[in-house]
Amino acid sequence: YNKTTPYELLGEDRLISLVDRFYKLVSEHPDLTPIFPDDFTETARKQKQFLTQFFGGPSLYTEEHGHPMLRARHMPFEITPARADSWLSCMAQALVDTNIEEPLRNAMFERLSYTAKHMINSENPDN
Ligand code: HEM
Repeated sequence: YNKTTPYELLGEDRLISLVDRFYKLVSEHPDLTPIFPDDFTETARKQKQFLTQFFGGPSLYTEEHGHPMLRARHMPFEITPARADSWLSCMAQALVDTNIEEPLRNAMFERLSYTAKHMINSENPDN
């Protein structure tokens, strides 16, 4: 097996750039702005912690917030299939803009796609 983690290949600096670029794109996406706060500071801080552990780095999110329970934490927000696609399109663009090389980029995107689909909690076609 390969014990190099995506986090090691990515590095902390690029993970930080990725999350900052991602939320800049989210803040400009009309499908997503209705459910996000106006100030992304805390959202981005938590996402940096989460993605660090999600990609095999230290468990920063769990140390501060406990078990992620991501699906439960997303239940207050209406996440339709269209919103999951919008979230993923911002992430795909952020991965390119952060200069994450293949095959790492595709491996990260596949894992994020799987989790994003798991977050869908509404089939409302109007949102
Ligand atoms: C928090 C939306 C997918 C990780 C949030 C918040 C929203 C949101 C509205 C709350 C922001 C705030 O109040 O600060 C969405 C939508 C998704 C999605 C529309 C589309 C499928 C994901 C995925 C991941 C993720 C795939 C992880 C790979 C997180 C984390 C938080 C969060 C770690 C912070 C949770 C906390 O409060 O501790 N998301 N999300 N989200 N999201 Fe997502």
